[in-house]
Amino acid sequence: MSSEWNRIAAAARRAQGAASEPWCGYIYDLEILRQHASELVATLPANCDLFYAIKANSDYPILETLAPLVAGFEIASEGELAWVRARFPHLPVVFGGPGKTDAELAQALDTRLEYIHVESMGELVRLGLLARQRDVSQAILLRINLPLPEAPDVPLAMGGQATPFGIDAALLPECLQLLESFPELRLDGVHFHLLSGQLDAGAHLRLLEHYFRTLEGWEHAHGLSVRHVNVGGGIGVNYRDPARQFDWPGFARGLNRLIDRMDLSRWRIRFEIGRYLAASCGAYAMEVLDIKRCFGRTFVVGRGGTHHFRTPYAQGHSHPFFVLPIDRWSRPYPRLAATDEPVTIVGQLCTPKDVLATDISVDELRLGDLLIFTFAGAYAWHISHHDFLRHPHPEQIFLSAQESLNVAAE
Ligand SMILES: Cc1ncc(COP(=O)(O)O)c(C=O)c1O
Repeated sequence: MSSEWNRIAAAARRAQGAASEPWCGYIYDLEILRQHASELVATLPANCDLFYAIKANSDYPILETLAPLVAGFEIASEGELAWVRARFPHLPVVFGGPGKTDAELAQALDTRLEYIHVESMGELVRLGLLARQRDVSQAILLRINLPLPEAPDVPLAMGGQATPFGIDAALLPECLQLLESFPELRLDGVHFHLLSGQLDAGAHLRLLEHYFRTLEGWEHAHGLSVRHVNVGGGIGVNYRDPARQFDWPGFARGLNRLIDRMDLSRWRIRFEIGRYLAASCGAYAMEVLDIKRCFGRTFVVGRGGTHHFRTPYAQGHSHPFFVLPIDRWSRPYPRLAATDEPVTIVGQLCTPKDVLATDISVDELRLGDLLIFTFAGAYAWHISHHDFLRHPHPEQIFLSAQESLNVAAE
């Protein structure tokens, strides 16, 4: 276990010790989140802003930690809009995502959002008509899907090919013509979010350069007046090899050079990052309930499962974890163990898909020990089907900076 998980491990040990039943829980270290976000913001070039895509994890302690650090939040539904506005009435908010309803667009117009990212020509017409009815003007970005020079090596591709996301770049002239009939909508620039899970900083820089060069071309070809370019999120977390993460410092240096080289200081460049901001502050912990052997393999059944933590299933990987040995054992039956062998970690669901990690070697693991799944702060609890089988929900623990220090000192 590397030391950044010490405080989370100590908190898990404490919570399990206080529980009367086998325990599982999410633990978030808000101090890690604060430090990570501060580093990202501090290293971005001067004309770049960092937004947080709250779909990754919209719990209020996460949002409250990030709100003073980031330039705003990206939301993708009226539920997220109401959620954000209830606590952050003045923070800049942008609204993206497919399938916006008329009611959502109307609410966005009434709430005076900084930008609405328009996903289709149909949405453009509906937004324009709603703005006209209200006699308001609204700044927009067009979300564009465009061909990419290199096939991205990522788990999730939202563009560069036929997808439901954004407007096909080939339709841009038609779209700009349509916009002329809606003076209520002010086009400030373009939004790109074509992939998610990028681990290669060099490839990400090349992708951004492709966006920027394409946009410069559109400035000349279509007289597009660009003030703002949103380059989306999409920076990945290396779940398969956690020691080798995206090289953010190298990326930030490369971006500074790219902006200088292309003389792009006239544009405001925005990132709206979810996974890479929030994943590393959280962990999902399960107590070992059972250990069994079947057809030559060893299965470890943990308290909880993919109904709490769907990330490994959604991404198709074995999720990284470490074993936290718990010495206390007071149950009136033998303490089963797995020693020096590969184990497959499963949950309590009645489906063979409830697998969190497959054939991973462990030194020792016993009933009652805790399995700590790291990098579980983003797209984890919030993308899971919580009530399948109606097991109890996991405990949710947020360690503030002060609590983090106390736990570390224990
Ligand atoms: C439009 C948009 N922006 C930003 C994000 C955040 O992406 P990530 O979590 O990969 O940074 C997403 C995620 O799906 C998205 O759809």
